[in-house]
Amino acid sequence: MLTTKTARIFLKPPVFLICLLPFFFILTDSIELTGNLGANPIENIQDRLGNWGLRFLLLTLAISPLRKLTGQIWLTLFRRMLGLFTFFYVLMHFLTWLILEQNIYLPAITEDIITRPFITIGFLALLILLLLASTSTNNIQRKLQKKWYAIHRLIYAASILAVWHYWWQVKKDITEPLIYVFVLSILLLYRIWIKYLSRKN
Ligand code: HEM
Repeated sequence: MLTTKTARIFLKPPVFLICLLPFFFILTDSIELTGNLGANPIENIQDRLGNWGLRFLLLTLAISPLRKLTGQIWLTLFRRMLGLFTFFYVLMHFLTWLILEQNIYLPAITEDIITRPFITIGFLALLILLLLASTSTNNIQRKLQKKWYAIHRLIYAASILAVWHYWWQVKKDITEPLIYVFVLSILLLYRIWIKYLSRKN
């Protein structure tokens, strides 16, 4: 079995670089080094960043169940990193919308956030992720003690809002959002099951 120390030295740096790859490809596509972004480049960039944000969010949620099921303690090492990558991709998704789509025009931004429900819930999810990212250091975890765990349980609310946000903006084919709903349901039901078992024993 891999030890946490070995995983920190040999696995963490390559995994970090792999997590940056989607951003690298979006960036090189954007400056037209590698490919093209299709008929609607802003939508393409925004969608890809949003999709990666959602994937990283679900990956973050999958770490604890995977660790419990496999007994590989070192997996925990990647939870914070994946959580911060979630925030990074979602923030870039938001900034693309803010800068490239809305041209940082405040009245239009506020109107969209208030009047378009799928943007309202996406924005709420972003605020939660901001809170989680800004309280993710060991120092803050130590200071907040039990409150830290209560705050970080908000990741469940953020993940429901994020999948809902995706579902809501899909126009026709709901296959992809359905896959996310399915994966998220398994991850949340697993936690409810574990809680039920620990109460029973
Ligand atoms: C946890 C937070 C968020 C996640 C995980 C997320 C993820 C996504 C995903 C997966 C899509 C669909 C991409 C596709 O069609 O392939 C999407 C679309 C969109 N999101 Fe978000 N999003 C989040 C927050 C936000 C925020 C804060 C805003 C703006 C305030 C925003 C604005 C949009 C818009 C405008 C679209 C539609 C883009 C289009 O026209 O195709 N999202 N988002």
